[in-house]
Amino acid sequence: MSGLPDTHPRSTPKSLDGVTIARGLLARTGQIVKDVAPTRRVFLCSDDNVMGILGDPVTHALTSAGLRVETHAVRPGEESKSLQVAAGIYNWLAARRAERREPLIALGGGCVGDLVGFVAATYARGIPFVQIPTTLLAQIDSSIGGKVAVDLPAGKNLVGAFYPAHRVIIDPNALATLPRPQLIADYAEVIKTAVIFDADLFNLIEASTHKLDDPELLAQLVQRCVRWKAKVVDEDPEDRGIRAILNYGHTIAHAIETVAGYGAYRHGEAVAIGMVGAGRLAAQTGHWTEAEATRQNTLLAAIGLPTTFTGIQPAHVLDAMLRDKKVQNGIIRWVLPTTLGHATVNVELDPTLVTQTVHTLTSS
Ligand SMILES: NC(=O)c1ccc[n+]([C@@H]2O[C@H](COP(=O)([O-])OP(=O)(O)OC[C@H]3O[C@@H](n4cnc5c(N)ncnc54)[C@H](O)[C@@H]3O)[C@@H](O)[C@H]2O)c1
Ligand SMILES: [Zn+2]
Repeated sequence: MSGLPDTHPRSTPKSLDGVTIARGLLARTGQIVKDVAPTRRVFLCSDDNVMGILGDPVTHALTSAGLRVETHAVRPGEESKSLQVAAGIYNWLAARRAERREPLIALGGGCVGDLVGFVAATYARGIPFVQIPTTLLAQIDSSIGGKVAVDLPAGKNLVGAFYPAHRVIIDPNALATLPRPQLIADYAEVIKTAVIFDADLFNLIEASTHKLDDPELLAQLVQRCVRWKAKVVDEDPEDRGIRAILNYGHTIAHAIETVAGYGAYRHGEAVAIGMVGAGRLAAQTGHWTEAEATRQNTLLAAIGLPTTFTGIQPAHVLDAMLRDKKVQNGIIRWVLPTTLGHATVNVELDPTLVTQTVHTLTSS
């Protein structure tokens, strides 16, 4: 399906087992879910927004395959990734006497996927789980790799599991109703994937900035990014090594999100600023060329992503970076691009240089 030369990754990653990507695929949800388990009934869980937009077509696809559908919607957003909301879903399942072979389907973005996946992993010690991701981020990132979790007041994703979905149904057409700012923010993760893995993908996005919501373009981007994520997950399923490469731009991004307060910056917007910072560090330390770092920043800006932060203090961002749970003994390990399409991990940098660079990221 990809219009790109399919040079890499060559073999099919194991993490793509059960993952199907195609425009219009939602209509085949019933058949795909029936393959998972011989069941007459399925449980469909979404958030209010997505249930309102895609609940009917997905329910129709399930009922026309002869399945009975029970539905439940949670409030949209990160607040629903909580033990309380998970308990509400457990009780909903229990009240309907859900059986161990009856699939639970998560229809929505990364919040619904993480929350409902966590419930699927733990209800009755694990029931069949199907993901239908409906944001660009969920299609290329959160639905691949098997991580599910809820948040605690003490931190994001603190209670979770590795529980790969039995099926992932990725329909790029489902992205058509995404609010534009959400779509643009999620492009940061696509550009991240391009910078660290795939120069062809970078060229494609550069040539497509006038049609970012084009369904065929989105289908190509999703296809490409999913393969890369799956390849890295295959190499490091439990996130102990090379999977860290996916954190490119995220060291500074997480700190910006923490200091600004969750919601002030969309995750992708913070990642864009973080990539500018990490790219600058890479160029200053001779890992990357200035020319390619500039090319990255120009593309981020052309897409409509921020390249600087405002309204927060660089000193607070630096403090938050050092308090990140991934930082051990006060040493930050950086992911830095080396050439477009490649990056290196575990780089230690001079703290003074880091401080100077974070100061260049503020526009206030
Ligand atoms: N498990 C993982 O490996 C992993 C990886 C990355 C991120 N995440 C998690 O993903 C979450 C963020 O996910 P997200 O950005 O998808 O946010 P989200 O699930 O909150 O969705 C964003 C908004 O878009 C709406 N929406 C979703 N699909 C839509 C559609 N097709 N049309 C119109 N509106 C739609 C939702 O209702 C919501 O309001 C975070 O909690 C993050 O921790 C998990
Ligand atoms: Zn991210």
